Amino acid sequence: MADKYILSNSTTGDTVDLNLITGTDGPAALDITGLYKERGLLAYDPGFVSTASCTSSITYIDGERGILRYRGYPIEQLAANSNFLEVAHLLLYGELPTKTELLEFEGIISQHTMIRETMRTFFDGFHYNAHPMAIMIGVTGSMSAFYHDSLDIHDPRHREISAHRMIAKIPTIAAACYKHNVGEPIMYPRNDLDYCGNFLHMMFATPCEEYVPSKTAIEAMNLLFILHADHEQNASTSTVRLAGSSGANPFACIASGIASLWGPAHGGANEAVLKMLEEIGDVSNIAKYIAKAKDKNDPFRLMGFGHRVYRNFDPRATLIREMCHKVLAELSDEHNPLLELASQLEEVALKDEYFIERKLYPNVDYYSGIIYRALNIPANMFTVMFAIARTVGWVAHWSEMISDPSQRIGRPRQIYVGAKERDYVPIDKR
Ligand code: SDX
Repeated sequence: MADKYILSNSTTGDTVDLNLITGTDGPAALDITGLYKERGLLAYDPGFVSTASCTSSITYIDGERGILRYRGYPIEQLAANSNFLEVAHLLLYGELPTKTELLEFEGIISQHTMIRETMRTFFDGFHYNAHPMAIMIGVTGSMSAFYHDSLDIHDPRHREISAHRMIAKIPTIAAACYKHNVGEPIMYPRNDLDYCGNFLHMMFATPCEEYVPSKTAIEAMNLLFILHADHEQNASTSTVRLAGSSGANPFACIASGIASLWGPAHGGANEAVLKMLEEIGDVSNIAKYIAKAKDKNDPFRLMGFGHRVYRNFDPRATLIREMCHKVLAELSDEHNPLLELASQLEEVALKDEYFIERKLYPNVDYYSGIIYRALNIPANMFTVMFAIARTVGWVAHWSEMISDPSQRIGRPRQIYVGAKERDYVPIDKR
C-alpha cells in the first residue's frame, strides 16, 4: 500500500487522498496530478518553491547538505578526475564513457564545431557593442533555419544529432560574439584542439597571431564548465523543458534557456558580482554594502549570495574559490584586489545574523567572475561562459523530457484575482 496523505476540509470534512511519490534520493512528493480533475482544486506555489515539475535521472542536489551529483557521481570527484566532454557524455547518455566511447564522442563534437558560413554574416547585423548574450540568443535560435535535417524531435537519432550540434557549436557562437564586440575577425574552430583549448583559441587567437592557452587556463575552463554543466530544474532548464513540451525544435528551446539564464537572479549574477565588487571598491565599504543588502527598502542584493535550493555552501563555490587561488597564483596575482575584497566580503556576510538566519551562502556565481577576469574574459562574456556549459544540461533535460512517454505540454493554471464579469461600456459613456 503506497504511503499517502489525507487532506480534509476544515468546514465540510470533505477529504482527499494524495499518494506519496518517492525517488532514489531527496524529498518525497504529494501526487496531485488528479486533484483538479477529481476535486476541482489547484495547488498554489508561486516560484515553484515546493513543486516537483517532473521526474529526472540526470542531477541530484541536496540543499541542506550541499550535495551535487551528476548521474550519481559527486561533483567533487568529477571536478578532480574528469574533463568537460567526459561529463557531457555522462549527462547526455547516463554513463561515464569508455576510452573508445570518449574518443568517438570527442571526434563527433569536433566534427560539428563549425557553423554554417552564412550564419557568420548574422554577427554583422548586430551593433558592435551589443551584449553577447543578446547575440547568442539570436544566433542560437536561428540554427533551426539551417539544420532542417535533424528536427524530427521524436526520432532519437535526430535528437542525438541536434544535441551534438548544440554542444559543439555553442563555443564557436560564443567566441564569435566576443570577436564581434572587439572588432576582430571571427576565428574558425580547430579540430586538433580539445574543447576548452579550442574555445580559448577562438577567443584570443587572431589571423595575425597564434594563441596557446596555458595548462592552468585549460584546467580552469574544464573545471568551470564541469561545475556549470547542469543543476536539475533551475529557471533556465525549466524554461527549456517548458518550451520543449510544446514540441518546439531544440535550437529554439536552447535559445529560450539562454534568455532565461541572462537574468541577474540566475546566470547573469556572475557578471553582476563583478560589477558589485567594483562598486564596493574597497574593504572599507563592506559594512555599508552589507547594510544595503539587508535593507528591505534598498533594491541592492549581495550578488553571488543565496540560493533557492542550497541552504548550506554551494559545493561549486568552494571548488571555484580553490581554483581562483590557483589561477591567480599562476598569474602571480595572488593578492588580486578583487579576490581580497570578495573573500573579506564573504567573511563578514557569513558572520552576520541576517545571512546566517536566512542561510545565505556564496553560490556558483560568487567567485567565477574573478577567474574569468584573470583569463582576460570580459564581464559581459561571463554569462555566455555559463551558457556554454549549461547547454549540455539543457540538451540532456530536453532529450530526457521528449523521450518520456508520459510527457505532456506544460500548462500551469492560476488563481484569478481580476475583475468580475462586467459589460462593455461605449467610449462616449466612460
Ligand atoms: C544561479 O536554481 C539554480 O540552481 C540556479 C543556479 C544554477 O546552477 O542553475 O544555481 C545558478 O542562478 C545561482 C543564483 C545566482 N543569483 C544570485 O546570486 C543573485 C542574488 N541571489 C538572490 O537573488 C536569491 O538568493 C536567489 C534568486 C538566488 C534565490 O532567491 P529565492 O530562493 O527566491 O530566495 P528569496 O529571494 O525568497 O530570499 C529569501 C530571503 C529574503 O529575505 P526575507 O524576505 O526572508 O526577509 O533572503 C533574502 C531575501 O531578501 N536574500 C538576500 C539575498 N538572497 C536572498 N538578501 C540579500 N542578498 C541576497 N543575495
